[in-house]
Amino acid sequence: MKTLPQSRYLRRDGEKGQDMPRNTLPKVTIPYLQTKKDEGEKIVALTAYDFPTARLMDEAGIDLILVGDSLGMVVLGYKNTIPVTMDEMVHHTKAVARAAQRPMIVGDMPYFSFHLSVDETIRNASRFLKEAGAHAVKIEGASEKRLDLIESLVEAEIPVMGHVGLTPQSIHHLGQFKVKGKEFAEAKTIIRDALNLEKAGAFSVVLECIPMELAREITKKLKVPTIGIGAGPYCDGQILVFHDLVGYANGYLPKFVKKYADLHGSISNALREYADDVRGGRFPDDSHSYHVKKKEVLEEVLKKEKIGKK
Ligand code: KIV
Repeated sequence: MKTLPQSRYLRRDGEKGQDMPRNTLPKVTIPYLQTKKDEGEKIVALTAYDFPTARLMDEAGIDLILVGDSLGMVVLGYKNTIPVTMDEMVHHTKAVARAAQRPMIVGDMPYFSFHLSVDETIRNASRFLKEAGAHAVKIEGASEKRLDLIESLVEAEIPVMGHVGLTPQSIHHLGQFKVKGKEFAEAKTIIRDALNLEKAGAFSVVLECIPMELAREITKKLKVPTIGIGAGPYCDGQILVFHDLVGYANGYLPKFVKKYADLHGSISNALREYADDVRGGRFPDDSHSYHVKKKEVLEEVLKKEKIGKK
């Protein structure tokens, strides 16, 4: 019997149900990322929130996938990252982890998942590892309380990525997203915060939206890798939000984003063409349709069932 080709009815696993060819680079671990820094090789990171995107990233040799709480803005349509819940993060991280075999997967601790107590923070963080299949978590900020939490997480065998500079979960304090650390006091705080995160046990630190000169100094001072977003070229690695990189959304893009594709334009054209074809009777045509084995089959069915006869 002829079977339907792999499609949305089945998981798309390449021809004859086999896995698509994956790159043969070694699986990404914390020591691997550290070696990259030590040997001066750049770390390539991106955000992803679903199975097909994570799969493309694995195939493209991306080292680290962050399931960022940017999920809230680019996928779920919230105004900012504040409403994102642990359940939403776990749901999307699971999809990413099902697809990505080689990259390191980091789950982003959403707002209010680490604010009540150490116990609750550890319980929430452990969901990323136990339920979702992530390898580490990211947590914004470096206040004294936050550093204590990070120490407790590391103690509980949960690897932590720090995040300083612009921290989007502080949107209501900040008022707006803007570059941090242009002036002396803020620059001093950001350097101190990054060093404290390393001391607390973070295996890497995200530097968001800070001057490149400051990011260069922090990268020199830290033993662990820095991953920059809007922090210039001297960081040990770079990360961008996937939807920005491929031009999926159609809105404002910050200066630090390089848009490598125009998915919004391509998808929009495809949707309009589809609508035109359906309305104009051009889709589906014969090539997208099935046939009965013999035309008598249908005649016989109609006759036997007396269908169509009053
Ligand atoms: O949520 C996110 O996507 C992030 C990156 C911008 C680093 O935190």
